[in-house]
Amino acid sequence: MRVVVTGAAGFIGSRLCRQLLADPSNEVLGVDMLTDYYDVNLKRQNLSRIPTSNFTFLEGDLNRLELEDVLDGVDAVIHLAGQPGVRKSWGDEFGVYVAQNIEATQRLLEAARTSSTIRSFVYASSSSVYGDAERYPTKESDRPQPISPYGVSKLAAEHLCSLYASEFDVPTVSLRFFTVYGPGQRPDMAFNRFIRAGLERSPLTVHGDGTQIREFTHVDDIVRALISAANAGLPAGTVMNLSGGSSVSVNDVIATLSDLLGHSLEVSYGAPVAGDVFQTGGDTTLARELLGWEPTIGIREGLATEIDWLREHR
Ligand code: NAD
Ligand code: UGA
Repeated sequence: MRVVVTGAAGFIGSRLCRQLLADPSNEVLGVDMLTDYYDVNLKRQNLSRIPTSNFTFLEGDLNRLELEDVLDGVDAVIHLAGQPGVRKSWGDEFGVYVAQNIEATQRLLEAARTSSTIRSFVYASSSSVYGDAERYPTKESDRPQPISPYGVSKLAAEHLCSLYASEFDVPTVSLRFFTVYGPGQRPDMAFNRFIRAGLERSPLTVHGDGTQIREFTHVDDIVRALISAANAGLPAGTVMNLSGGSSVSVNDVIATLSDLLGHSLEVSYGAPVAGDVFQTGGDTTLARELLGWEPTIGIREGLATEIDWLREHR
């Protein structure tokens, strides 16, 4: 399979490239503009861990590249590039979210529309499209009502994927990831911050009282689903939850981390932050039916993999 992975230097993208390249029949073109959302050196390190055989890296902005050339002869596109971060998407920053999440996706879909070779176009959607959901576990058919500008931008791009599927038969599949963690997690995300604070014996801050609930999902479970979705020949316009299998609060996570690290963590509680949903939790019946996918890595085991990784790479 010839695969284009956008966002290849990022947390999930670099892990995906490594897994794709473990199969010598795959050829991967990774595209990334190395945004400064977080330390660019971390992205360069992510890239340096991707094997070079069968891998080509193209540094460039999806809003500027000649994307028809980039997609020439490609079988699958896995589109992970974007501006992440729920809580930073307010104010003047919103323009960046519009450009990186909505406009870039639209340009990529336009290029995919003209391709005669692409069999799958997998888009990294997000649990943030649900906002504070109607019910838990949340089904794909429940009404999305994001409560952050980030969530609005991810939902808009998801709608574009569905639209290009229905109008032009672009074989899009939108996978709604629920808070992803594990080796290489972004440095702005909760577990990375908490574990670094634990290892350095420095204080960490919880936004709100820590009772907020997430269905955290291990990156290796996400990567497995991405590869499977790229190969599955699903109906164009499919939308699917990928959530980690257990609902835990931020306070539960801190207790587990203390246990795994063997000492208590110094925690201070701050104000809740606008855009942060109280609870996420996804129904994964569809992923099981269409991909045979189930999450396999539980939270305690998964946290241990992130601790090990940060011990080595911090
Ligand atoms: P990340 O920031 O580590 O990776 C995204 C990469 O995209 C970055 O390396 C960035 O430089 C690149 N990029 C951004 N705009 C670009 C553009 N215009 N052209 C080329 N490259 C560009 O983030 P991540 O955590 O790996 O997330 C990957 C995707 O998954 C994002 O689209 C994010 O919205 C989505 N997602 C992530 C999570 C999560 O918990 N990490 C959950 C739900 C959805
Ligand atoms: C994550 C990703 O950052 C988004 O890109 C993604 O789209 C989203 O998941 C999703 O699933 O849709 P978030 O759930 O906010 O967003 O992930 P974390 O940064 O891991 O935060 C988890 C919880 O910990 C949040 O309630 C957050 O407020 C809290 N937190 C985070 C803290 O209390 N302290 C911190 O220092 C960081």
